[in-house]
Amino acid sequence: MERSRVLVVGGTGYLGRRIVRASLDYGHPTYVLHRREIGVDIDKVQMLMSFKKQGAHLVEGSFSDHRSLVDAVKQVDVVVCAISGVHIRSHQILLQLKLVDAIKQAGNIKRFLPSEFGIDPARMGHAIAPGRVAFDDKMVVRKAIEDAGIPFTYVSANCFAAYFVGGLCQPGHIIPSRDGVCLLGDGNVKAIFVEEDDIAMYTIKTIDDPRTLNKTLYIRPPENILSQKEVVEAWEELIGKELSKSSISEEDFLTNIKGQDYASQVGLGHYYHVFYEGCLTNFKIGDEGEEASQLYPEVVYTRVKDYLKQYV
Ligand SMILES: NC(=O)c1ccc[n+]([C@@H]2O[C@H](COP(=O)([O-])OP(=O)(O)OC[C@H]3O[C@@H](n4cnc5c(N)ncnc54)[C@H](OP(=O)(O)O)[C@@H]3O)[C@@H](O)[C@H]2O)c1
Repeated sequence: MERSRVLVVGGTGYLGRRIVRASLDYGHPTYVLHRREIGVDIDKVQMLMSFKKQGAHLVEGSFSDHRSLVDAVKQVDVVVCAISGVHIRSHQILLQLKLVDAIKQAGNIKRFLPSEFGIDPARMGHAIAPGRVAFDDKMVVRKAIEDAGIPFTYVSANCFAAYFVGGLCQPGHIIPSRDGVCLLGDGNVKAIFVEEDDIAMYTIKTIDDPRTLNKTLYIRPPENILSQKEVVEAWEELIGKELSKSSISEEDFLTNIKGQDYASQVGLGHYYHVFYEGCLTNFKIGDEGEEASQLYPEVVYTRVKDYLKQYV
């Protein structure tokens, strides 16, 4: 089967660069949006050049220039957007409405994967403020996509490994401690951890798969469905040492959120839903979705216990 031509928007980003590499690895003719606005950001320019060396086509365009987006979209079959969506870094999810307009006008796109890659926003109508803004914005984009009749796949990638496993699921930590850990509640609520290159791989695998057309792809690698305590135990086993444990109750966690700056409040709200409420695992996937490791059993995903080895 001929592989679709893919345009990656946000291709120099943390996840986007991995999607570009996965697309090239799977033999898709790969196009990467080169935004004029990156100017003299030498790191980004060099990354774009390295993609070019690997066979990617760079397409110049700008979110401030509708025509340029339409022209970029016209060159491909599938658009994957990985624009920023983490408040502590940058959050530009609603800019995608411009991309949706361009895709609608171009009229040739067989599938659009918007920048989601986290908790399924459709299940977060009850989320606490201000963290809910992340879900609300992603739902605004979904509505625009569906109103425009654009074929889509939404990727729910759960917890990025580097953010969550690295810090043993503690907000504000991305390297595991050898001394102590603070458990969120009793630390027994199950979450799901996915290594970022694996997310990119599953994302690219799905773009030509009719089984995920107009559905949500949930990435739930079975051995990575773990509680915080289980992640900590895996680390303790690797370093041959038991960490001292404290814990923070649900009530105290919620109270603490209030005193933080806005971006931290957003992030902490997400931790609350994942590690106290269990929002990643408290539902069964219905007809609206498919599970990635079942659809693509050939993918050898990174186990949390192996992921942690890099920190030893
Ligand atoms: N589940 C999780 O644990 C988790 C963790 C992190 C992120 N995520 C999700 O993953 C997705 C990607 O996040 P990320 O952290 O990879 O993003 P990122 O690295 O912060 O940014 C990605 C790209 O967004 C583009 N961008 C940023 N500001 C822009 C602007 N003003 N105009 C146009 N483009 C702009 C840039 O692309 P170019 O310069 O290349 O054009 C940038 O490289 C988001 O939806 C986020 O919510 C999930």
